[in-house]
Amino acid sequence: MKSNTIIWAAFTLAIVAITLQACKKDEPAEGIDLELLNMSQETSGFTWYKNSDAWLPKSAGSGHNYTSLRTRYNTTAATQLDGDGKVLANASFPDGSLVVKELSSGTSVERYAILYKMSNNEHADANGWVWGYVNSDGTVATTAEDKGAICTGCHLQSDNIDYMLMNKFFP
Ligand code: HEC
Repeated sequence: MKSNTIIWAAFTLAIVAITLQACKKDEPAEGIDLELLNMSQETSGFTWYKNSDAWLPKSAGSGHNYTSLRTRYNTTAATQLDGDGKVLANASFPDGSLVVKELSSGTSVERYAILYKMSNNEHADANGWVWGYVNSDGTVATTAEDKGAICTGCHLQSDNIDYMLMNKFFP
C-alpha cells in the first residue's frame, strides 16, 4: 500500500512537470518578447521582399511547420534592399533594422519570426541581432532571451547576408 502511494505520487509529479514544461512555450509575451510582438504587429512603413505581399510556399530550408511565409523590412532595414526589393549582396543592416517573417498555414498571420538589429540591447547576440519568435495571439514561441540559440546555426549557413536567407531561398 505504502509503495503504491509513493509510485502514484511520483507519477503525479511527473505529469505536473511535463504539463508545466509544455505550458512554458505558450506564456503571454512580456518584456523583450512583447516589445518585438508590438513592433511586428505594426505594418505601416514596411517594404515587402521583392515588393510583394503575396504568401510564398515555405522553402526546403525553412525551419518551421507553417506552409506559407512572407517577409517585410521597416524603413531602416529597407535601406539594405535594392530596387527589386531584394537584400543587397553586401548588406550590413544598421541599428534599428526590423525584419519580420510572417508565418501562416492559411492567409492570416499565426507567428512572427523577427530579426531586430540593436547592438546595445541586452538580448542581442554577438552580431547585434535580437531574435524574436512570437505568436499573433500574444504568446511566446521561443523567447528572445535565448539570443537566437535555436536560430543562428541555420542562419549562418553559406550565402547568408548578415544572417538573411530570403535571397538564397527565394532568388
Ligand atoms: C532550419 C533552418 C532555420 C532555422 C532553425 C531558423 N530559420 Fe529563419 N529562415 C530560414 C530560411 C531558409 C529562411 C528564408 C525563408 C524561408 O524559406 O523560410 C528564413 C528566414 C527568416 C527570416 C526572414 C529574413 C531572412 O531573409 O532570413 C527571419 C526574420 C527569420 N528567419 C527568423 C528566424 C528566427 C527568429 C529563428 C529562430 C527562432 C529562425 N529563423 C530559425 C531558415 C531557418
